[in-house]
Amino acid sequence: MEIPANSLNWDQTYKLMTGAIVPRPIAWVTSLSPEGVVNAAPFSAFTLLSQDPPTILFQAVEGDREKDTARNIRLSGEFVVNIPNLPLLEQMHLCSASLPPEQSEVERFGIATAPSLCVKPPRIAAAPICFECKLIMHFPIGREPHVVFVGEVKHFYVRDDLYDEGRIDQALLQPICRIGGPWYARLGEMIHMPAADAMVRP
Ligand SMILES: Cc1cc2nc3c(=O)[nH]c(=O)nc-3n(C[C@H](O)[C@H](O)[C@H](O)COP(=O)(O)O)c2cc1C
Repeated sequence: MEIPANSLNWDQTYKLMTGAIVPRPIAWVTSLSPEGVVNAAPFSAFTLLSQDPPTILFQAVEGDREKDTARNIRLSGEFVVNIPNLPLLEQMHLCSASLPPEQSEVERFGIATAPSLCVKPPRIAAAPICFECKLIMHFPIGREPHVVFVGEVKHFYVRDDLYDEGRIDQALLQPICRIGGPWYARLGEMIHMPAADAMVRP
């Protein structure tokens, strides 16, 4: 099937892309409002950009109002990306509810937080991995109002048992994969491949 991109409407394009770009990791972002309200929300348009310095990005669609996360980060320049795992699935998912800015998701859903070391927004205490980030830049993209946030990670929190000789133990981490629509998945069987250069004959 050949599908010219301009033949699809917003919804059709969203369904096609979020069904094809799978599985997506989830940034469960905590941020702090100028009034001191701790906000938490998940974003799966999220990826690594660089390791020197450690840099990540995520995107927030604006629709008819600026998301609380977007406003807080724009005004404070700081946020924490918490990596949720399977035991935190329901709490993370609940944080996508559209609460008013004066209501904290962490208070409403009883999610414990812990102080961050380098930024003011707290991290989620039970999250196995957290990136404390300073905003480097944010910019609009697309015809719909989307905003891309690029952050430099200033500090990593990693649960002790997950960190094995500098690598994250995926079986212990139990990451959540976001797939199309209202669906999540867990990691399946892991498959090891030698480096391609070692497999290709000169
Ligand atoms: C798993 C998951 C991933 C999401 N990814 C995104 C995303 O990449 N971009 C976005 O704008 N909204 C995304 N959302 C929706 C936001 O979480 C939702 O709009 C939330 O209410 C924003 O909260 P806030 O206004 O407190 O910032 C996602 C929701 C879920 C459940």
